[in-house]
Amino acid sequence: MMGIKMDVFLVEGPNKLSGEVRISTSKNSSLPIMAATILSKKKIALSQLPHLRDIRTMRKLLESLGCRIEIHGDEHYIDPKSINHLEAPYELVKTMRASILVLGPLLARFGEAKVSLPGGCAIGARPVDLHIEGLKKLGAEIHTDKGYVLAKAKKLVGCEVDLPFPSVGATENLLMAATFAEGTTKISNAAREPEIEDLALFLCALYPELEIQGAGTHEITIKGISKDSAEADIVYTPIPDRIEAATFIIAGLMCNSDLAVVNCRPHHLESFLEKLKAMGAIFDRGEEYVHVKPCKEKLKGIDIQTEPYPGFPTDVQAQMMSLLSVVNGKSVITEKIFENRFMHVPELVRMGAQISLDGNKAVVEGNSILEGAPVMCTDLRASAALVLTSLVANGKTRIQRVYHVDRGYEGIDKKFFDLGAKIKRLNEPME
Ligand code: EPZ
Repeated sequence: MMGIKMDVFLVEGPNKLSGEVRISTSKNSSLPIMAATILSKKKIALSQLPHLRDIRTMRKLLESLGCRIEIHGDEHYIDPKSINHLEAPYELVKTMRASILVLGPLLARFGEAKVSLPGGCAIGARPVDLHIEGLKKLGAEIHTDKGYVLAKAKKLVGCEVDLPFPSVGATENLLMAATFAEGTTKISNAAREPEIEDLALFLCALYPELEIQGAGTHEITIKGISKDSAEADIVYTPIPDRIEAATFIIAGLMCNSDLAVVNCRPHHLESFLEKLKAMGAIFDRGEEYVHVKPCKEKLKGIDIQTEPYPGFPTDVQAQMMSLLSVVNGKSVITEKIFENRFMHVPELVRMGAQISLDGNKAVVEGNSILEGAPVMCTDLRASAALVLTSLVANGKTRIQRVYHVDRGYEGIDKKFFDLGAKIKRLNEPME
């Protein structure tokens, strides 16, 4: 396409990493918390939000509703007082599925919302039926028309909502909608991700009268409050990004390096760290760090199944596949959350990884000799897997469409460069 320039990464491998990398604030905690500011009647300060494309998209979405947002240093000041528009347009929603998270808070505060259906994405159809069914149970009238979800609710009334699947987004939308619902709402089979707990902590910090029990477990109870309830003046910092932390821990292991991953929460990564231990990985851990030691020769293959939290996170599956392709022995990865989350496989195979697919299973032969090659990003975590593989591959790798990586990793090239990797970002005409 003439004239269009896009960022690419140029990586030369293999690499040794050393030093310390500081993990950024979680994308998947920041996005629902930004949406939850719609529930506020006054300006809120969110601190340390990561500089990511998706955060910018959510900011644009909130501003399109009428929020006024200012950024001073590390603080986002979001003022939802002037919301005067209740529609999330397709142009924004199509670029970020998490836009659906404004549905619950708009319904709760204004009794009305028009949100474009997210449409599929690279990793699957990703419907929002569980969001819609749950909100209907709370009393919303919802129907879809011309690709939009149209929702109205004179009032929301608390009740028991039993989720057929512990959907993260559906749990978050219901949690936000239940805030102003009359009476008590109980969400059963709720998602248990740390980001759910963080959202609940934010809501209770914002509204001290709000009582939420069980966030982070499979049963959450919310005692709804009046919209006029008093709000506290808060500056809220979401939790660190557990998926970014896992990505850098894997990088340390793949590059056989001594690498400290700091400002992370190892207790949000138990199932992942258990798998690494079972593979023979050597690392120290504390409350807020994981320190990886050189141990690549000892690492052996292991079978992985992705599960809802606290099981092995699907968002680390692609990065784990990169690691498993360079350790001793065979591994089988079973992806049980998304129906199409192996888009990274053909690109990894082009770099020499020996991976064969059979439905939702990937068989990964270890000890692959990886060679640099021109590759293309397809989705966020697949892109992270390509970056990881390029760090250990022999020779040059040119990674195109890195905008996928920039959605969820704050300056990943600079972080790896500061750890000693031969990586640079170029802005080149798109082929
Ligand atoms: C969140 O997506 C994360 N995104 C995803 O991270 C993560 O992969 C996913 O949770 C699972 O952990 C954010 O938090 C912004 P789900 P979400 O609802 O809420 C199906 C990343 O890389 N489903 O738990 O969309 C759905 O199709 C991203 O950072 C329905 O069928 O995940 C999928 O197969 C990718 N109907 C499964 O459930 C629904 O109404 C998990 O979806 C909702 C979901």
